[in-house]
Amino acid sequence: MRHPIRIALVAGARPNFMKIAPLYAALRGRPDAFTVQIIHTGQHYDYKMSRVFFEDLGLPEPDAYLEVGSGLHGEQTARALSGCERYLLTRHADLVVVVGDVNSTAAAALAATKLHIPVAHVEAGLRSGDRAMPEEINRIVTDHLADILYTHCADAGDNLHREGIPAERIVFVGNVMIDTLVALLPRAAESTVLNRLALPPKSYAVLTMHRPENVDHAEGIALVAEVIERVTRRMPLVFPIHPRAAKNLAALLLRSRWNELVENVNLRLIDPLGYIDFLRLMKDARVVLTDSGGIQEETTFLGVPCLTLRENTERPITVTCGTNTIIGLNPRRVAESLQELEHAPRSSPACPPRWDGRAAARIVQHLSNYFEIHPSPATAGEAYRERVELMTEAT
Ligand code: UD1
Repeated sequence: MRHPIRIALVAGARPNFMKIAPLYAALRGRPDAFTVQIIHTGQHYDYKMSRVFFEDLGLPEPDAYLEVGSGLHGEQTARALSGCERYLLTRHADLVVVVGDVNSTAAAALAATKLHIPVAHVEAGLRSGDRAMPEEINRIVTDHLADILYTHCADAGDNLHREGIPAERIVFVGNVMIDTLVALLPRAAESTVLNRLALPPKSYAVLTMHRPENVDHAEGIALVAEVIERVTRRMPLVFPIHPRAAKNLAALLLRSRWNELVENVNLRLIDPLGYIDFLRLMKDARVVLTDSGGIQEETTFLGVPCLTLRENTERPITVTCGTNTIIGLNPRRVAESLQELEHAPRSSPACPPRWDGRAAARIVQHLSNYFEIHPSPATAGEAYRERVELMTEAT
């Protein structure tokens, strides 16, 4: 085996950063075997959506920042694809690691595959069965391009088998996001966020909403306002608001409804939080309401009841073995569920197998064995590179 193996970690949007952080640390712990590059596509670019996570998670400046920015899905994906291709043509990588299911994930997987660079997908095999979700398309595309598929639960492996992905490509390693959570719980305990909000532990609810199907139209936004109203009748509610939801709440809500929200003393409408503060907020919440994917898993691990305001989930293990209940964006069901929780709280910590803080270590061990068996095809992209050079010279 040629040493060291050059690994490019790709991250684009907020939920990616906590997934690459433990991989970065584990790979850096093996300098004999690996070098690591970080490609940040720039899909998320605000301090509050991106930079604060690099700070909280101890990640270095990325080796490349592709400035993809916001836009239509096709445009955003195309910019990430082109940016990753250009980067990979000039900087050598023996393996590209992509995580999660955002547009940057699928784009980077496609760029690498076309350059004949092997791809590993971390958090492979999740399926909601709902192709209206852009993330579902990204999951399917990425999984069918990847050479190595790292899964974090048994049903993800089952999904991949059903889609005909060869068993030898699928490796059940556990949950890298839980690695980050476990590592940063001690720092979260020192966060001052509850003091800043003047909230005692277990006295409040937390809400996050950002999915286009919920917040990109007036009807959804009105339901969000009604959910807020129902929750705040019972307890204080902290709503760290995603930029998309913030814009739409102000623009799509009736003026009278907006004024009611702003004047609601039980509602704390705040900017998005960094990782450490949000972890503390979640850990000490009485209940979390969300349309996010990752939060369903984090609340399961923390033993905090979670009400998922969607019609489906790609993470059914959080329902069967965890604290999650899928209720849709339905204010009446929110009120009923809050009442049920008061009488029978589902709050015993649940831990799916291999959600133990060791997933990144398992991945690095697997990669080490993988490159023993599959000598790095670092030259596979060379023919293409030469062709590109010829084309560039010719024009
Ligand atoms: C993306 C992911 C989603 C993930 C979410 C986490 C896709 C298809 N979606 O959705 O899976 O759960 O991130 O947040 O990849 N914006 C800012 N500042 C930023 C980034 C975005 O203001 O730093 C605003 C932009 O105006 C944009 C909107 O947020 O219009 C949406 O951003 P985008 O990256 O397109 O998708 P998300 O909805 O955040």
